[in-house]
Amino acid sequence: MSVDWSNFFSRRTKNITGSQIRQFFALTEKPEVISFAGGFPGNDFFPQKEIAGSLAHLIREDSTQALQYSPTEGSFDLRKVLSAKMSRDGKLCNADSLIITDGSQQGLDLLARILINSGDPVLVEEPAYIGGMSAFKSYGGITVGIEMDDEGPLPWSLEQAVKKHSSDGKRPKLFYTVPNFHNPTGITTSLKRRFEILAIASRYNLAIIEDNPYGDLFYDQDVPLSYKALDREDRVIYLGSYSKILIPGIRIGWLAGPGPIVEKISMAKQTADLCSSSLGQQLAYRLSLEGNVDKHIINLRRLYRDKRNAMLSAMDRYFPAGIEYSRPGGGFFIWVNFPSYYPSSRELLEMALQQNVAFVHGEGFSSNGGGLHSARFSFSQPGIDDINFGIKILGEIFWEVEASCSVKVAGWES
Ligand SMILES: Cc1ncc(COP(=O)(O)O)c(C=O)c1O
Repeated sequence: MSVDWSNFFSRRTKNITGSQIRQFFALTEKPEVISFAGGFPGNDFFPQKEIAGSLAHLIREDSTQALQYSPTEGSFDLRKVLSAKMSRDGKLCNADSLIITDGSQQGLDLLARILINSGDPVLVEEPAYIGGMSAFKSYGGITVGIEMDDEGPLPWSLEQAVKKHSSDGKRPKLFYTVPNFHNPTGITTSLKRRFEILAIASRYNLAIIEDNPYGDLFYDQDVPLSYKALDREDRVIYLGSYSKILIPGIRIGWLAGPGPIVEKISMAKQTADLCSSSLGQQLAYRLSLEGNVDKHIINLRRLYRDKRNAMLSAMDRYFPAGIEYSRPGGGFFIWVNFPSYYPSSRELLEMALQQNVAFVHGEGFSSNGGGLHSARFSFSQPGIDDINFGIKILGEIFWEVEASCSVKVAGWES
């Protein structure tokens, strides 16, 4: 008789479910599929020559540091470089209040581990980044969606959620936000809104988790000052990442925050992995020191701007007028809202997959059962020809849907 492993799992494990985006990995790997699903960097955009040069140097000159275990908090040199990068953008921070993580995803997981009790409400944007919500839920957190408009999370919605859950005896402690080129909507929170959100956080003693993997990738104008830069009360925990601005393969992210948080995270990280990849850290350090990361970011802005423009122009050209979509100033994502008389975005995705085009339907991003008629389109990975072709195919599908909906409506009316 084989073992029934379901009896072995802890109660907490029951909260861990697969991400619908991960389920797309298999799909997106099929060469015939044009995928707007995953939020991956462009395969052709990695700075291979610079990486090869730095790796060769590391192995030749600094191999011990690169190949040995490193401190749990991360290489002090890299932490210094990253704290200088943050300070340049007004987010004052020293190397001691910054810890290297295995991508910002590990920062989210460790934060959830040290801050969330089972049953705690965790305030998130509506819609929100699936990986953030999965981390909170895996420790028993219950995500509560805060409504957004084009300027970011709505202050009244945040305040209302805090009051409602406090009166139920579950005062929320955490608000998780992606303020720049939000995943999945592409929205950037305005400066005014950031001040308003900070004021509410101060009034109700909320900690803000500011997740900013996309802020450097602006294609029109620079982003507003971060919550971390505006914070005067040490209530912001900031997450950064090299995944989108350099390469995700080395899994280098960082967390900058108040001393007690960084200290506890460091203890939690010890049992998670002892330390992040030393080779990855040394590579990130050398590439940063040589100015290659900054140069790469400037290149990426141009390359992704072209892709963003291509996808928006194709949508303008091929999509029926009733379909609305965001026009992000940076990042990877466009959020699409279909008319409510269309089939659900999940059904539209099924139709798209039959024509070998993929996107992500909206439900997984929602805490409140929303997203039925929304979808996330990522322009970061496919080439410009594929963007044009894929959106054209989708446009044809959506026009057919439009026609069949109007036939139904006309038939019903007569
Ligand atoms: C908003 C957001 N946060 C965190 C991550 C995780 O990034 P990484 O762990 O590669 O740094 C992603 C990845 O797509 C993301 O979009």
